[in-house]
Amino acid sequence: MNVRPLRIDDLLGMQACNLQNLPENYTMKYYLYHAMTWPSLSYVAEDNKGRIVGYILAKMEEDKAENEEPHGHVTSISVLRSYRRLGLAKKLMVQSQQAMANIYGASYVSLHVRKSNRAALGLYRDSLGFTVKDIEKRYYADGEDAYAMHLLLKSNI
Ligand code: ACO
Repeated sequence: MNVRPLRIDDLLGMQACNLQNLPENYTMKYYLYHAMTWPSLSYVAEDNKGRIVGYILAKMEEDKAENEEPHGHVTSISVLRSYRRLGLAKKLMVQSQQAMANIYGASYVSLHVRKSNRAALGLYRDSLGFTVKDIEKRYYADGEDAYAMHLLLKSNI
């Protein structure tokens, strides 16, 4: 298993992985926008035949206030079921977080997660050290609440 930066020809595999794993899906245009605008923030995990088995789609926040520090945001992350608990998601998160801090000067990274998503909460809170900043009521299309989570980042610059 290999984790590496996203290439444009990975986008279809990445979208297929997202469709299998999550109800939050995106247009190809949105994947392309991430890849073209912040090429160093999104990564894929591939198996030994080069098939995409996991991905992180991430960006820098664009709607921040003028006096706010730059921060990164994880749009989506997932790993195919039979490749879970191998440390892939953690690797994908750490690589993206390092690029956010070192390339874009991000002071923290944010994301949203369903309140009921035990696996993702285990990854974010227990394994990576994220904290819950807010609860966003009915954030998801089916009415479920989201935790808005943050993690402070350290730059190596
Ligand atoms: N239960 C509890 N803790 C877990 C679980 C779980 N099922 N899965 C991972 N963790 C925690 C553990 O602390 C784990 O460390 P350990 O295995 O040493 O105990 C740590 O996270 C790292 O786990 P990884 O192996 O790196 O995680 P994995 O590659 O299995 O991917 C993920 C985790 C992405 C949440 C996966 O379960 C998945 O794809 N789920 C469906 C899609 C999803 O929910 N994505 C997140 C939506 S929110 C968003 O995209 C911003």
